[in-house]
Order: sequence, then C-alpha cells, then structure tokens
Amino acid sequence: MSSDISAGPATHGPNRRNFLMLSGAVAAATAIGQAAPAAAAPGGSIGDLGGHPFSLGVASGDPLPDSVILWTRLAPRPLEIGSGMPDKPVPVHWQVAHDEAFSRIVREGETFALPEHNHSVHVDVRGLPTDRWFYYRFRCGSELSPVGRTRTLPAPAAPVDSFTISHVSCQNWVTGYFTAYRYMAEDGLDLAFHLGDYIYEGAITAAAPRGGAFVPDDIRAACQTVDQYRLRYSLYKTDPDLQAAHAAFPWAVTRDDHEVVNDYLGGVDHGQKQLARRAAGYKAWWENMPTRCDPPVGPDQRIHRRFAVGNLAQFDLLDSRQYRIADNDPAVSKLGDAQEAWLIDGINSHGTTWHVLAQGQQLGGVTANSPTRNRIYRAYYDREVSPIILSGDLHWTLVQDSLLAVPDATSPIVGTEFIVTSITSTGDGPGSQTTKDNWLKNPWVKYADGYRGYIRTVITPTGVSSTQRDVKFVTRPDAPVWDAQKFYIEAGKPGVQLV
Ligand SMILES: [Fe+2]
Repeated sequence: MSSDISAGPATHGPNRRNFLMLSGAVAAATAIGQAAPAAAAPGGSIGDLGGHPFSLGVASGDPLPDSVILWTRLAPRPLEIGSGMPDKPVPVHWQVAHDEAFSRIVREGETFALPEHNHSVHVDVRGLPTDRWFYYRFRCGSELSPVGRTRTLPAPAAPVDSFTISHVSCQNWVTGYFTAYRYMAEDGLDLAFHLGDYIYEGAITAAAPRGGAFVPDDIRAACQTVDQYRLRYSLYKTDPDLQAAHAAFPWAVTRDDHEVVNDYLGGVDHGQKQLARRAAGYKAWWENMPTRCDPPVGPDQRIHRRFAVGNLAQFDLLDSRQYRIADNDPAVSKLGDAQEAWLIDGINSHGTTWHVLAQGQQLGGVTANSPTRNRIYRAYYDREVSPIILSGDLHWTLVQDSLLAVPDATSPIVGTEFIVTSITSTGDGPGSQTTKDNWLKNPWVKYADGYRGYIRTVITPTGVSSTQRDVKFVTRPDAPVWDAQKFYIEAGKPGVQLV
C-alpha cells in the first residue's frame, strides 16, 4: 500500500516535500524536494540570465488519474558547470491548459528553481481532470518555454478501450543521433517507458562526435562528481529529437547501470568511494528526470513504483541495480528482498486485464540459474497472471516467451518479454547474423533484431499489439524508420504470435 504511487501524496516523506501556496494560484502543486526560499519573492525579477533558460526543453512524467509531474531545468549555458545560472533560487511560473494557445488555463502557479538542484523544476500538479490531455509550459522572467503535451490517467478500475506505450533504452549520445525519438514523438503514445542507460558515464574520447560536434573538455572526463553527471545530462538533453519526445507525452523512467557506472552491483561490494559516485549519479538523474520519486538521500533512492491504467493494465517499474549483490545465490535477491517482496505481493493489486513489468535488463535468458527470475516467474504463474515484461540493456530486440523452467522448452509459458534494442548504443544495425542465429536457436526466442529503434505497444482489453520500429542508421542524421515486425498477444492466452 505504502509503495503504490497511485495511493497519492501520503506515500512520500513529509519532510522532503513541501506544499507551496501559490501566488495568485488557482491550484496548489507540490514541488518535489523544494521548499519555498524565504528570500525569494514569487514573481520577482530574475535579472538577465544571459541566454534562453529553456535550452533543455520540457518534460512530464509519472501520471496519475488526477496528477502529472512537469519538469524543466533552467540552463542558459547548458554545457558549462552551473549551466550559466546565478547561485540563488529563481522563480518559475507554470501553466497547464486545455488548448495549445493557453486561452483555457486549467491550473497555474509558481515554484522555484533552486541552485542545490541545478535549477531543475519538478511540479506535481494536483487536482487535474481525469483521463485528459493537456498542454503545459513554463515562464522564467520574460522567457517562455516550449509547449509540452501531457495527460492524466483514467480513473482506477474505469473501463479503458486502448492505451499506447513504447519502451526504449540505451542512448549513447557519442554513438549516434537520437533519430528514433523523432518518430516516437509522432507515434501517438500515451506514455513512454525509458528502461535505463539514459546517459553513458564513460569518458568521451572522440574528437568531434556526431559528425563534428564540439564537446567541451569539462564534459569529456568519465563522470564521478555530481557536476560531471549534470553536464552529461545537459549534453544529452540538448538533442532536439529527445526533447521532442519528452514534450509529446509523459514518460516513466527507471535506471540501469550507466546512470552511475558500467555493470555496478548495488554498492555493497564497491565500498564508500563507489557509494559517493552512486549518490552523485542518482542526484543528477533525479534533477533531470520528470519523475515523481523523491530526490535521493545520499546514495539511496527508492524508484520502484506501481500504477494502473483503469481496469486495463497495471504497471510495475523496477530498479534492478541499486539493491543488487549477486544473482546466482538463491538466498540473495537481485532486486533486494524488499523490492522482490513488494513486486510479488502486489502482482495483481489492481485487478486489471494486463500486467506489465518494466525493468532494465533481460529477465529471461538461456540458463536455469537465475533464482530471482525463477521466483518471479513462479509467483506470476501461481497467481495465473501472465505478464508482459519490458526490458532493455541488450542492444538487441529479442521477443521471447517467458518459460516457467528455462531452458526446458516444454515448460509452461508464463508471459512474454519484449527486450527492446537501443536508441543508439553499439551503432548502426543490423548487427551480427551469427549472434542473431544464436538467439533464434532457442525455441522460446521468437524474434531477434540488431537494428536501433524502439517498440510501440497498443494495449486493449482483448489483446496486446506491439511493433518493432527500426531506424536504418544512427551514425548519420535523418535515418528512415520502418515497421520491422508486428507481434500480438491475445488476452487470456499466454505466448506471443508474429503477425
Ligand atoms: Fe546500454
């Protein structure tokens, strides 16, 4: 109960979330992790910021039936430490409207971009009409942000005809262009899932990546400090296609390893130095994501969460890195005991037709030796719930049925896993034919694709229809996109069909 974000604001620590009374407000909003600074006058002058403060665009995320998080970060000079902002709180006005011209305002108010959060803004807009689309924007001084589109979810248990999502992962900026996002932004989604590797923390050594882009020296070193992680997010978020996809619909975001460091395990086995790095990575992640999660406390931040879309689908979003120690010891959960228990206890807590498990890394695989996975599969199977599992990390799209006793091909199908390829990581497709052939030797693997792209999924009461959308290349701009393969899962009948 306390871990279900649809339960509302009571799930959040009262001391880290302050309720702002808004000047001239028609509504109240909760600013995550932000207190109204006594010295800053709402609506007061901010002086000359020396550039357009909304260079990183706008975003929204973690919608609920009556609420959505609005995000921006003020950065007139995004590729400099401090982003060109003064070391003081800066008032930011926000508006939510029914129309793109903002003639019919639904909610508006004022919050503060604080220097301790790198002048990021997270507004939890409450009291919104249910199951509706809105436009939103910010104003800082005389500067207006781009306009974003976002939505609230249907009411709990309400009938829902259709809900369209996509999931993505692994966007190494140096490797190529985020062209896939340009197409995703036009794809009519209700919600996008980012399953991790939003940034890559490693050193940038290419002299002029992406066809000659200038990358300042401050951004090139492997990320260790919070300022270095912040700069890395700034670099990534200057991408216009990424900004377009954020502005087009809300996102729900979790992490994999590169938000901190390649292949990290929890932190227990890396010592205090690693935990300091994790704290820096988590802080910059929170500052730059449109998330409802509270900010981290040192190296700790709870980001696993659950919500439902009417009676249609329950979504469980996991954190498969923070609590991880090992995955071949039956006594140790890859998710941490608390998160695994939370997942299993809540498998059917909303009584929906569909159950979607979204998390960073391939859950299935070819070996029997994954006790955590085996326990999760068994829990779904025993409850007669057939999950749709969304994963990333692999830099291949693999669509595979989840067998109760992998690799026994005769064991029951529990659900289906859609491991999505990367946005850019590893570069242009189509990948190695040998690798592809090896994947497809496993009878439960129904599809393998080494191009870059994303998966778009339409969920209805009778079936789930997914499409693998491939982009031809990422090392040059403006690649074409095509529908590489379509998939269908019929409600009540576990197992994916290629269509
Ligand atoms: Fe990756």
